[in-house]
Amino acid sequence: MKEKIKHLTEIINTLSAKSNDEVEALRIKYLSKKGEISELFNEFRTVSNDQKREVGQLLNKLRDDAQNKINELKTALAETASNIEKIDLTRTPDTIPFGTRHPLSLVKNEIFDIFSRLGFVAAEGPEIEDDWHVFGSLNFPPEHPARDMQDTFFIERHPDILLRTHTSSVQTRVMMKQKPPIRILCPGRVYRNEAISARAHCFFHQVEGLYIDKNVSFADLKQALLYFAKEMFGENTEIRLRPSYFPFTEPSAEMDISCDLCGGKGCSFCKNTGWVEILGCGMVDPNVLENCNIDSKVYSGYAFGMGIERITNLKYRVKDLRMFSENDIRFLNQFQ
Ligand code: DAH
Repeated sequence: MKEKIKHLTEIINTLSAKSNDEVEALRIKYLSKKGEISELFNEFRTVSNDQKREVGQLLNKLRDDAQNKINELKTALAETASNIEKIDLTRTPDTIPFGTRHPLSLVKNEIFDIFSRLGFVAAEGPEIEDDWHVFGSLNFPPEHPARDMQDTFFIERHPDILLRTHTSSVQTRVMMKQKPPIRILCPGRVYRNEAISARAHCFFHQVEGLYIDKNVSFADLKQALLYFAKEMFGENTEIRLRPSYFPFTEPSAEMDISCDLCGGKGCSFCKNTGWVEILGCGMVDPNVLENCNIDSKVYSGYAFGMGIERITNLKYRVKDLRMFSENDIRFLNQFQ
């Protein structure tokens, strides 16, 4: 008898029903006059006197449990029914919050918009490069400090393979497979072995520009860069070119724009000079053209390279370079 009660209790605990009819069927099966529990009550008469007390208690509990279970199933069904009635199918859905573009992508896209109006098209190259594309072809002498372990990440046991330190390597990639005219803009990530701080990172982003054709002059370069500066930073922006040195350009220059914080009067941002540096540029060195099988007596060209982080800092005044790679949603959300 005790075994039977135990067995039925287990079954009762696991009962479930999908409709009121099913609940009613369960009630009849277990609790009606001819139900399984009532049958046990009939059998109770045969239990010996010394067991009656204990078995009686177990039986009563079984009946109560069954009744509770049936009630429980009924309420659960009633609740789901009323929930379905509460759903307003005509309600406009919640808007899905879109992500925002990364500030570096916003600025990269803007740089592309501007130069595409001058006929530049996108070109890309690999981040894992060889020495020749990053340095050799670009006229870096073998002992040039930029090749030093301090700056460049080399791939262990493969001294010829490295992480590109600038996007100038894409110039070579394109010149090797395309004949002039060439007018390309190459965006990408570059790597340098620097300690990470607010002002330096071991990776950052550049955009490289290259224009090769017959009769390309320094005046063309200057005009293109002036147009870029005004489109990017506003109509009143002025530019200044300072002589500089890069192995792959001759002559070379660095370009400053007038500081738009102080309007050129001098402030802490421009270190009281009224100017801020934004890029490097120059006329492509004839050696570079020849290295890429382009006749330097027929063709000439200009090139420029800028850091996207630097341009972004100037536009949005981001104080710490590390913000760009931390994926902090509070920072990224500000660039809606
Ligand atoms: N590759 C240079 C750098 O990473 C930037 C640069 C300077 C690119 C002058 C150029 C250029 O194309 O003409 O610092």
